[in-house]
Amino acid sequence: MKITVIGTGYVGLVSGTCLADVGNDVLCLDVDAEKIRILKEGGIPIFEPGLDAMVKANVDAGRLRFTTDVEEAVAHGLLQFIAVGTPPDEDGSADLQYVVAAARNVGRFMTGYKVVVDKSTVPVGTADKVQAALAEELAARGESIDYSVVSNPEFLKEGAALADFMKPDRIVVGTEDPRAIDVMRELYAPFQRNHERLLVMDVRSAELTKYAANAMLATRISFMNELANLSERLGADIELVRKGIGSDPRIGFDFLYPGAGYGGSCFPKDVQALIRTAHAAGHDLKVLQAVEDANDAQKSVLTQKIVKRLGEDLSGKTIALWGLAFKPNTDDMREAPSRVLIADLLARGARVRAYDPVASHEAQRIFAGETRIDFVDKPMLAVQGADVLAIVTEWKEFRAPDFPAIKALLKTPAIFDGRNLYDPAVPRRAGLEYFAIGRL
Ligand SMILES: NC(=O)c1ccc[n+]([C@@H]2O[C@H](COP(=O)([O-])OP(=O)(O)OC[C@H]3O[C@@H](n4cnc5c(N)ncnc54)[C@H](O)[C@@H]3O)[C@@H](O)[C@H]2O)c1
Repeated sequence: MKITVIGTGYVGLVSGTCLADVGNDVLCLDVDAEKIRILKEGGIPIFEPGLDAMVKANVDAGRLRFTTDVEEAVAHGLLQFIAVGTPPDEDGSADLQYVVAAARNVGRFMTGYKVVVDKSTVPVGTADKVQAALAEELAARGESIDYSVVSNPEFLKEGAALADFMKPDRIVVGTEDPRAIDVMRELYAPFQRNHERLLVMDVRSAELTKYAANAMLATRISFMNELANLSERLGADIELVRKGIGSDPRIGFDFLYPGAGYGGSCFPKDVQALIRTAHAAGHDLKVLQAVEDANDAQKSVLTQKIVKRLGEDLSGKTIALWGLAFKPNTDDMREAPSRVLIADLLARGARVRAYDPVASHEAQRIFAGETRIDFVDKPMLAVQGADVLAIVTEWKEFRAPDFPAIKALLKTPAIFDGRNLYDPAVPRRAGLEYFAIGRL
């Protein structure tokens, strides 16, 4: 099938590449000329495991191309996937300007039937706005051309995006238009050979499903973070509590890890956007507001622990930092807890020596001109000459460090672990002080 992907970011590039990989003819469009230049020259603008090889294979096979030419992109695909960003507006609601602009472009240049698919995470009612934008542009041209608008939210996880796209748990398709349902079934047939995973529903339910999924996952994290903080006060160990409740199949073990707060490009903005959608509909989502408040507070928990140990004034201190990305296997630092921690530490006069396997270049961009952060390319180089070590991202390579070497290198041998990576007895046996989240 001929497919155009509008917006070649994390979701657009992964979706376009996976769709090409099963044999489709995919053209990815972006307004960011630099991004398209990198892709055309064989580079990859983001870090996602396995993506570079898959992009290369499909480009070499002639199934995947990149462009900044809107007219060419609209002409190409029967399917027009909208995968542009939906960042938070000033009040937290989703900013739909990029989605609407993408839809307008389709309306401006389409010459035949198109299935316009919202893959971006968009509030309930967006499909109506996309439809209106298409209709307005066609009316302005005096044209009457058929089109269908479909909601097809994306559930991939950064860091495991290719596997998630190739083997989805479910594929939500929101439309009641039989012609569009047929196209979507044909498109997704290669991704569900084992059993049917397509859930066809009305557009509004599909749009809400995506927010409901992220809101539920964020709720589990904030719930565990609150219980972890309570465990510290009560002298309980949250890791034992986690095992104790996760073994209940109604609860399960996934997404029950306490930590330094959730971040990333999705949970924070999607929780906020759903709260705003509810307000606009005259309904208060009390649980979700608490989820957001708890998460905001959680991002300062590591700083509080460091301050409790080293004092309010951190001037003259150097904090080693392991992990910058909001989670492992990505270089994405949007809303990452590390950003809040770094800002808190710098504000208290500290310096930071940071290590991350892939996100340092992104951090350098974010903290451009900040001279109090040193970026190093080995974990132990961060520890060298630092006062204490803080861990914010659970990269695999941090799981079994050389604790005696860390003890020897730190001025105050203490680890502040925002991801509960270790059995507390192990670093303590090496003579380190060990502070985790909700642990004894
Ligand atoms: N990142 C994730 O893990 C993830 C997962 C599921 C859903 N989503 C949702 O998918 C959407 C995209 O997220 P992302 O992380 O890929 O964003 P991103 O910022 O990485 O990519 C968006 C891209 O769209 C481009 N763009 C903006 N306007 C355009 C236009 N009019 N025409 C062509 N290109 C345009 C931007 O230049 C950018 O490259 C968001 O709604 C997000 O919530 C993201």
